[in-house]
Amino acid sequence: MPTIFRLDASIRNEGSVTRAVATTLESALLANAPDTKILRRDLAHAPLQSPVWAAALTGSHAPQGQRTPEQHKALALASELGDELSQADAFIFAVPMYNFGVPPHVKAWFDVLISDPRFSPRSAKPIAGKPAYLVLARGGAYGPGTPREGWDHATGWLKLSPPVSVWSVLTL
Ligand SMILES: Cc1cc2nc3c(=O)[nH]c(=O)nc-3n(C[C@H](O)[C@H](O)[C@H](O)COP(=O)(O)O)c2cc1C
Repeated sequence: MPTIFRLDASIRNEGSVTRAVATTLESALLANAPDTKILRRDLAHAPLQSPVWAAALTGSHAPQGQRTPEQHKALALASELGDELSQADAFIFAVPMYNFGVPPHVKAWFDVLISDPRFSPRSAKPIAGKPAYLVLARGGAYGPGTPREGWDHATGWLKLSPPVSVWSVLTL
């Protein structure tokens, strides 16, 4: 059974553009393969706790036998996030721009994820080449010549940082 991993990050349910577009996209993909399993992580409603990242980072550098309970717990979470991505055949990332960048809970998710050795920046990208859709919504305009040209620190980061290499980007 094919699996689609869907990540949501809007703090809104009602009126969320990213959630609405991701749902439309999900429905279109399901229409082609009705037996698809949707694996969801909603970072706005279930954010990772920020201390987890430091524990995962320090734990990944500590020898197995010397890790604290917090480090073990954080690395287990990193592994869980890695498993979610590894078992998927396609991806939908629905991310709003907040304060000219990605939401803090998306950055926290990414920081913990790359504590998993499979998703370390030094590893081969384990999900590269699989179809990945990035739905990014912004309220402002950042095109050439606009007063805030260069202020969009979300799109470039999202396209380059996550462990996929090919994106279909829907910028709204
Ligand atoms: C707290 C907050 C901060 C925002 N900051 C920005 C911003 O810096 N630049 C921008 O273009 N839009 C900004 N927006 C607008 C959102 O990107 C836009 O409303 C988008 O549609 C939000 O995604 P959603 O519709 O899925 O909730 C902000 C919205 C909120 C609620």
